[in-house]
Amino acid sequence: MTMPSHVTALLALSGLRVPIVQAPIGSAATPELAIAVCRAGGLGGLALTWSSPEEAAAKVAALRQALPGAAFYANFVLHFPCEGLDAALDSGLPIVTFSWGVDAARIARAHRAGAKVGVQVGNAAGARQAIEAGADFVIAQGVEAGGHVQSTTPLATLLPQVVAVAGDRPVIAAGGIASAAAILRVIAAGAAGAMLGTRFLVTREAATHPDYKAALLAAKPEDTAFTNCFDIDWPHAMHRVLRNSTFTAWEAAGSPPPPHRPGEGDIVFRQHGAEMVRYCDTPPGPEAKGDPMGACLYAGTGVGDIDRIEGAGDLVSRFGAEVRAALASAAHERVTR
Ligand SMILES: Cc1cc2nc3c(=O)[nH]c(=O)nc-3n(C[C@H](O)[C@H](O)[C@H](O)COP(=O)(O)O)c2cc1C
Repeated sequence: MTMPSHVTALLALSGLRVPIVQAPIGSAATPELAIAVCRAGGLGGLALTWSSPEEAAAKVAALRQALPGAAFYANFVLHFPCEGLDAALDSGLPIVTFSWGVDAARIARAHRAGAKVGVQVGNAAGARQAIEAGADFVIAQGVEAGGHVQSTTPLATLLPQVVAVAGDRPVIAAGGIASAAAILRVIAAGAAGAMLGTRFLVTREAATHPDYKAALLAAKPEDTAFTNCFDIDWPHAMHRVLRNSTFTAWEAAGSPPPPHRPGEGDIVFRQHGAEMVRYCDTPPGPEAKGDPMGACLYAGTGVGDIDRIEGAGDLVSRFGAEVRAALASAAHERVTR
């Protein structure tokens, strides 16, 4: 095995072949996406924060059936009630990840159900709390991340701090990672693996509106903004998005608070029979009608590295092969030096 020992610790924990984790990218994280990632040797997962107990149980059961004996995870954002958590655990969820908080009772509950637990943190204090509460691994999320962002610190600064606190627990790096080179950089800095969110939005299995996928493909890091603009449904939580028409109009107006924002109350798009108002935090799915590009378009700074739309399994295999080859050649150099 040519993987560094801190990487094999993660692989052993979850039975992965490559140290690549698909982030819980909200409703874009379809079961098909998680299955494709897992079948290619990465760790795929679901975002079940807003699922009912019945829906959570059904999705976990479907993944267990599609992936016999393989690891996958479901994420729960602790700012919300997480009504599906118990049902997911009781249905045999192998790994659970929590974000936006550390809850020792829920970690213990997950352990009693036989699940491993990861906690996403945005600073070293959060990592310490997570480890003390019994987390099996930690996800260090840098400020470069797409979606809601717990951190205000760049990943390159945060990662060594979290690795130092985590001791022998694997640390997964997240935020702005969208290439094999970026995965190798975080592994060199002590991460056991990398979690990619925005990159997986641009895969065939992700439930992302096609125009949103095209915009991510065309975007550069400076086309993203770290902001509190899209705050309906989850106020006071910073997020990183594409600078679209809604964002730039709000910025040009001096970034006023609600209810004084341009276009406040407009219906921006409709999907699944629901009307989404401007500044809500729901991104557009494939069937969104209206102005999906005026909606909240989460994006991390890794957008500049996205160069194609492909199947998630192909992406994991491609990045995995590059990462394995680079680590093997580094190990060979160490032996022959
Ligand atoms: C569309 C989208 C939805 C997200 N939803 C969640 C979520 O439900 N729970 C969570 O913990 N993190 C969520 N995140 C953040 C990811 O966990 C992860 O930190 C982030 O995607 C990593 O940065 P990257 O997008 O630059 O790869 C989301 C990110 C994106 C892009």
